[in-house]
Amino acid sequence: MNATAIVKELEHKREQARFGGGQARINVQHDKGKLTARERLEVLLDPDSFEEYDMFMEHRCTHFGMEKNKVPGDGVVTGQGTINGRLVFVYSQDFTVLGGSLSENNAKKICKVQDMAMKMGAPIIGLNDSGGARIQEGVDSLAGFAEIFQRNVLASGVIPQISVIMGPCAGGAVYSPALTDFTIMVRGSSYMFVTGPDVVKTVTHEEITQEELGGADVHGTHTGVADMVYDNDIEALLQVRRLVNFLPLSNREKPPVRPTEDPADRVEMGLNTVIPDNANKPYDMFEVLKRVVDEEDFFDIAPNFAKNIIVGFGRMEGHTVGFVANQPMELAGCLDIDASRKAARFVRFCDAFQIPIVTLVDVPGFLPGSSQEHNGIIRHGAKLLYAYAEATVPKITVITRKAYGGAYIVMGSKHLRNDVNYAWPSAEIAVMGPAGAVEIIFKGKLKDQEEIDAAVESYRDNFASPFAAAGRGYLDDVIRPQNTRWRICRSLATLRNKELENPRKRHDNLPL
Ligand code: HXC
Repeated sequence: MNATAIVKELEHKREQARFGGGQARINVQHDKGKLTARERLEVLLDPDSFEEYDMFMEHRCTHFGMEKNKVPGDGVVTGQGTINGRLVFVYSQDFTVLGGSLSENNAKKICKVQDMAMKMGAPIIGLNDSGGARIQEGVDSLAGFAEIFQRNVLASGVIPQISVIMGPCAGGAVYSPALTDFTIMVRGSSYMFVTGPDVVKTVTHEEITQEELGGADVHGTHTGVADMVYDNDIEALLQVRRLVNFLPLSNREKPPVRPTEDPADRVEMGLNTVIPDNANKPYDMFEVLKRVVDEEDFFDIAPNFAKNIIVGFGRMEGHTVGFVANQPMELAGCLDIDASRKAARFVRFCDAFQIPIVTLVDVPGFLPGSSQEHNGIIRHGAKLLYAYAEATVPKITVITRKAYGGAYIVMGSKHLRNDVNYAWPSAEIAVMGPAGAVEIIFKGKLKDQEEIDAAVESYRDNFASPFAAAGRGYLDDVIRPQNTRWRICRSLATLRNKELENPRKRHDNLPL
């Protein structure tokens, strides 16, 4: 073949690859409200930044007449691009080619970008839309999955890994997203389950739809498998861009800094009136968060799962910060199993990627009840304690109101190597709330309600205030709410070059 013919062949092959499984299948994809694999990359990446790898790779399968069913690229589009000018690696499964199913060679393409991302120290983003293991390829396909999982594990804590589920994700395929840092699902068009409705029906006789079994809202609200859920492909991809803007490219570098007009020394008078007079009345912790962060810009992680705790990214003086905050509006801000898991995972992510942690505390304790105890609140609560205690990044805590018992210790207390601990004047730091304490201390000794009320009041005055803790040095200062932002900004600036190492070990044995 001469050079002109080769160029012609090249263009033909490129066209074929770009056309995926053909117009009819592209139409079906669009009819379902889904973008194609390539259209998704156009939304995700900066214009003209995508460089594709392995466009001509084909499968090697000869079973079931597969030798006649080859499409260049083999059902996954892989390569590199940029998000706001910063390098990322991507793969996007093409459902129009054999249902985006994972073949031996299709897996090799994904592994190649995973390896590149690790070498270059850049995030990897996987757009998942696949019927799972390519059935015609049998064990070769399973091997391909295993190679991807292995790389997911080695990359954990080294580069950010983001999975976006934009179609089917079933069987063992679910375990790659589960191993990554953030999983995002699209409402109505994505689902994740280990065994689908048909198998469930055969084995347990339970009749359940795909949506009910593993739809986006199930995972975004009940299981916590999905961190974020969005209404369509475009919204999901734009939010991934926003998320990436907060993250460092790898654990080798500090988080990015975005110039801001919001003054670091902004005094926020509105914070002085956030806490209600009645200690049992809830308030919205988002009101505090949005007044503290730069430009009210807060990226809420897992907003619909374990709403009693808020975790997410904001910026202080342009620098990315991970926020953890109890939410008094839900379960009075108690810590339960789901909240502990959610926050523990977030704290560990921040610590792995050098992102400072700011904790806002209003927690009456761990949620009581047999359901919590029998489902293992001891083990799950320990995860959060462990995460805070092992974290060596700068840690700043502000107690806005309640900090009782074990939950006081867990939520970024001084005792867990926290760097700077503040409390508002409204803070109550004690073993338990006044009513419970009086009931135990004065059991059977108080005559009437009047005496009980007096004892509660006296306990509140003596113990449920910030001054007992401040008197011991467990708080560095009691600050006025209006000064919260600038005090945090100044502390973060002080802590920017913090150095702290954990003891050498092969690895830890965190409570799983
Ligand atoms: C090969 C597949 C495929 C697969 C779909 N296709 N899944 N080809 N291997 N796993 C092909 C179909 O034959 C069809 O080809 C095209 O993709 C579109 O599929 P449809 O069934 O027409 O689409 P839809 O009705 O939308 O249904 C999508 C689906 C269904 C729900 C994903 O295709 C399905 O149930 N597929 C099988 C899923 C599965 O059991 N996978 C294995 C899971 S176990 P044509 O040519 O007609 O367009 C697994 C183990 C991994 O993955 C273990 C790792 C450790």
